Amino acid sequence: MPQTQAPLATASRDTDTRASSASDTAIGVPLPHESAALHVSGEATYTDDIPELHGTLHAALGLSRHAHARIVSLDLDAVKNAPGVVAVFTADDIPGENNCGPVVHDDPILADGEVLFLGQPVFVVIATSHDLARRAAALAKSDDVVRYEPLEAVLTAAEAKAKKQFVLPPLHLKRGAPAEKIAAAPHRLTGTFEVGGQEQFYLEGQIAYALPKEMDGMLVYSSTQHPTEMQLVVAHMLGWPAHSVVCECRRMGGGFGGKESQSAIFACIAALAAYKLHRPIKLRADRDDDFMITGKRHDAVYEYEAGFDDTGRILGARVDIALRAGFSADLSGAVATRALCHFDNAYYLSDVEIVSLACKTNTQSNTAFRGFGGPQGALVMEVLLDDIAHELGLDPLDVRRANFYGIGERDITPYGQRVEDNIVEPLVDELVASSDYRARRAALVEANAQSPVLKRGIALTPVKFGISFNVPFLNQAGALVHVYKDGSVLVNHGGTEMGQGLNTKVAQVVANEFGLALSQVRATATDTSKVANTSATAASTGSDINGKAAEDAARKIRERLAAVAVTLLGGEARNVTFARGEVQSNGASIPFAQLVNAAYLARVQLWSDGFYATPKVHWDSKTLTGHPFYYFAYGAAVSEVVIDTLTGEWKLLRADLLHDAGRSINPAIDIGQIEGGFIQGMGWLTTEELWWNRDGRLMTHAPSTYKIPAVSDTPAAFNVRLYRNDNAEPTVFRSKAVGEPPLLLAFSVLLAIRDAIAATVADAAHDTMHTVRRAPPLRAPATPEAILDALDALNANATILPGQRPNGEPVGKSNTEAAPATTSAST
Ligand code: MTE
Ligand code: HPA
Ligand code: MOS
Repeated sequence: MPQTQAPLATASRDTDTRASSASDTAIGVPLPHESAALHVSGEATYTDDIPELHGTLHAALGLSRHAHARIVSLDLDAVKNAPGVVAVFTADDIPGENNCGPVVHDDPILADGEVLFLGQPVFVVIATSHDLARRAAALAKSDDVVRYEPLEAVLTAAEAKAKKQFVLPPLHLKRGAPAEKIAAAPHRLTGTFEVGGQEQFYLEGQIAYALPKEMDGMLVYSSTQHPTEMQLVVAHMLGWPAHSVVCECRRMGGGFGGKESQSAIFACIAALAAYKLHRPIKLRADRDDDFMITGKRHDAVYEYEAGFDDTGRILGARVDIALRAGFSADLSGAVATRALCHFDNAYYLSDVEIVSLACKTNTQSNTAFRGFGGPQGALVMEVLLDDIAHELGLDPLDVRRANFYGIGERDITPYGQRVEDNIVEPLVDELVASSDYRARRAALVEANAQSPVLKRGIALTPVKFGISFNVPFLNQAGALVHVYKDGSVLVNHGGTEMGQGLNTKVAQVVANEFGLALSQVRATATDTSKVANTSATAASTGSDINGKAAEDAARKIRERLAAVAVTLLGGEARNVTFARGEVQSNGASIPFAQLVNAAYLARVQLWSDGFYATPKVHWDSKTLTGHPFYYFAYGAAVSEVVIDTLTGEWKLLRADLLHDAGRSINPAIDIGQIEGGFIQGMGWLTTEELWWNRDGRLMTHAPSTYKIPAVSDTPAAFNVRLYRNDNAEPTVFRSKAVGEPPLLLAFSVLLAIRDAIAATVADAAHDTMHTVRRAPPLRAPATPEAILDALDALNANATILPGQRPNGEPVGKSNTEAAPATTSAST
């Protein structure tokens, strides 16, 4: 069992003295997720569990068979005549705009004349059952139904880059004189790298349930991170004003960015059919369709170059990041911007040039995925630093340390924001000590010398992650708090619950404000008719901004209640305290519920709205400079792996994670986010491989071929701790956002595998680490095939290396010989 240390983190919090007036309420306590019992018992209501209204019909999508083609003819008679089919709709049936793109209007809801990727919805079938709808939609595979004239398709980022084909103009940031600094540096290197994409693989697939309402109204239940966006795209699609559409989401079974914009096509199509037929319509994509239709994390190819000194300190760096955006812009502009802003990761780059490209391809439109381009930006920096360590024969940790941001110096990011709250060094120091990194590295080099087949590797990587939407206006949130006459409290806010615990944290904030137990506060479904004009729950800002908005709403009510308390008990309003269900003033106290009732009788408003706009953030999209992030979250991880050099299999033996969640509102939830983010990042970098064939057909579109980590992939030793650190900014209870940053801690797994591969050519003279003068050419995901390829390539180049194992055997995949009996295979 993974050994998580929630109790430890909790214990360290017991001594906190909180400004809060309510010591018995929930802030800083590791309370379970508000729906934990429902999740495990199966009682939690997801969109598909909402009791269906009488007359509900079911939708399924007919998908394109070509990556790029003109639709020559569409003959839907066979589909219409299929059993159970009630209607079939195409783009021609859309009364308003045939677009669901969140930023640029380049995202057709249903293909219109042309298909832009293989899997694009061309028509929707409405039938009496889900199964009959799917059977009829499968007729899209027939030439008699849809006839195409294939057009040239561009499938990869590299091809699109060569053709200069982008969904948005290239981003280019340059500071100082990187080319000159590189040329003048004592050491130089150039490299290329590639990392694959990643399917969000939310356990609950995309789904929408649309209900027509009176007077041209529409209620859409949608599994979405962004109810307001769903409201707007449905309204545009129907040509209606926004007030005619309501979107509601109680919870998602995971979103991970995949439901930030891409729930839209499902919401729009369900609403279209509901509008046409005046019947409730449910559209639930099965897993394969979901894979084929929706965008994923952007895969990337990189070219980089750096000049550095003898200690590994970077004097100048250049990188070119080519992201596969897919057929439309979607959120790729903001993703490419975040990739650019995260290249520095935790390191100061005086002279730097970053090019970030959103390459247009005939594939699914790639979108948000936990980290939102940040992981793609920072990963290449970690690879570059590892290359430098190999080049110089230094421990990669020392090279990293030589490049960390400073405090009061060397602290300006390439985009001009000062790093004001830098805790990288003390955090890494603490982790180096707690993980015993140095001794373990030495021990592992020893062990590897005795083990010709199984090789171990270890790596420490840090993360610095910018918190805020990198589009400043999105950093706003609203909330609505109701205190009912009996003293129970209801909170509604613009954020959505996707398993991350947002509703728990927001309820904790409200409970704390009123001095109530958490059980007195209930968080409700997100609903566009309650809080308007919300942003997506994304960029890890959910609890930061909705927590503050809810606090604002609750505080307004509390102030009104305090005034009533003074009339009843005497004293001064500013001295009234709310704790343990009691309200105190002037040495006397009254139960909260009693005060509430008195306030009601005195005709005091017992509900309030609340609002929050994140301070300080600004961004100049022309110069690519500004203050895009309110603050940074930090963390670091040490991972140790073992690889089998004969099969390419590997295992994570131990991981030590130390992460900065500020002053945690809920350490249990935050530790869960850190564990989950790390394992999800590990999946991205190791087992999750997306593979398109030459026709542009995604072949890995189900769990049978696409391998996400299982619980058995968590390491036997899994030490996850919170770093004690109050947010320097006055966020809600000085907490920090935690949703995305821990995903980047998984870099340590990839680099540990690289370290283990390097061990196959480690020369006895380099006895303290696996630094050979050439970095293993390992791509990500580091599947067994990728690991074997890297072993081959590394060992083929024997001329620059001793080419011998320490025990004198030849190296490489030629090592099909049985392991000598004398070796101690250590796992
Ligand atoms: N955790 C769970 N269990 N499920 C999710 O879908 N999404 C992640 C992260 N953690 C996700 C999750 C992503 S991509 C983001 S941006 C944040 O949660 C969003 O929620 P927050 O802002 O409230 O942290
Ligand atoms: N994260 C997620 N979604 C976004 C962002 C971001 O930084 N910027 C714009 N949309
Ligand atoms: Mo998260 S990728 O910002 O939804």
